[in-house]
Amino acid sequence: MATRIALGNNKGGVGKTSATDNLAAGLAEEGKTVLVVALDPQMNAERRMGVHVDEDNPIPTVSEAIKNAQPGVAVDAITEIAWPEPYRSLIRVIPARYDLENRVSEAAVPGAVLRLRTALEGVDDDVDYTLFDLPPSLGHLTQLGLCATDHALIISEPEYDSVGSAVRMRDFIDENAAVLYNPGLNVLGYLINRYRAQLGAHNFQLDGLDERFGEGSIWTPYVKERTAIKDAADSEVPLRALGTAVATEAADDWRKLAQHLIKVTS
Ligand SMILES: Nc1ncnc2c1ncn2[C@@H]1O[C@H](COP(=O)(O)OP(=O)(O)OP(=O)(O)O)[C@@H](O)[C@H]1O
Ligand SMILES: [Mg+2]
Repeated sequence: MATRIALGNNKGGVGKTSATDNLAAGLAEEGKTVLVVALDPQMNAERRMGVHVDEDNPIPTVSEAIKNAQPGVAVDAITEIAWPEPYRSLIRVIPARYDLENRVSEAAVPGAVLRLRTALEGVDDDVDYTLFDLPPSLGHLTQLGLCATDHALIISEPEYDSVGSAVRMRDFIDENAAVLYNPGLNVLGYLINRYRAQLGAHNFQLDGLDERFGEGSIWTPYVKERTAIKDAADSEVPLRALGTAVATEAADDWRKLAQHLIKVTS
């Protein structure tokens, strides 16, 4: 059975999708198989792995899987990624499409929030980790992911607003896990992205985090702000494939975070 983890924050642009793709890469480097489930109509997670969902490429996506909602139907949407080996053999993606937004208007139908969990039944039984890339909201798409997952991982910048949004996400999970049919849902920890050591404000935020979120809940290493991380995402390649010293150092940090993920979930 896969261990399922939903990566989120109520704030946009903090690196939820970067964390999803780079942790998938780190897990693959540890020999783990990974299914990435894109739950954001922005379609970033799969695009950065070289999967393009558009009118010229009409493949089944998470949107149809949620709409259909029959047990196991999401298997039809599993897609190969375009990254090189070893990633290509170990990582699969269930892409999103812009019309995923249409699933939101169906949220009032009784049991609607269970649709993704049902569609995924049995689909990741032979996968080690399933990662959900959540959108920057606490609305229905995020709730579909929180209903289907075992754990949440909150991604945050060491910034005032981002930490505030992380708190909202944590409180939302605490208050709503039971009504999302997932009373055991827990927050695994907090992954810090876009750290700039020279910024006093970042270090000030980081100083207070352990106390705020709980001893040991802040994952290390912190992921630094690195042009290489953006460059790899923009060119649809794994970070390590860039081959520069900075990219390798960043890929090593993501791998350490993947090792931590394995440790706290096994
Ligand atoms: N550590 C980093 N260093 C440099 N660039 C980064 C870093 N993390 C993310 N980025 C870049 O910043 C942008 C926003 O990151 P990303 O899309 O991963 O955030 P997100 O939280 O998923 O955003 P959204 O809320 O829109 O889904 C992207 O262009 C990404 O490549
Ligand atoms: Mg994103």
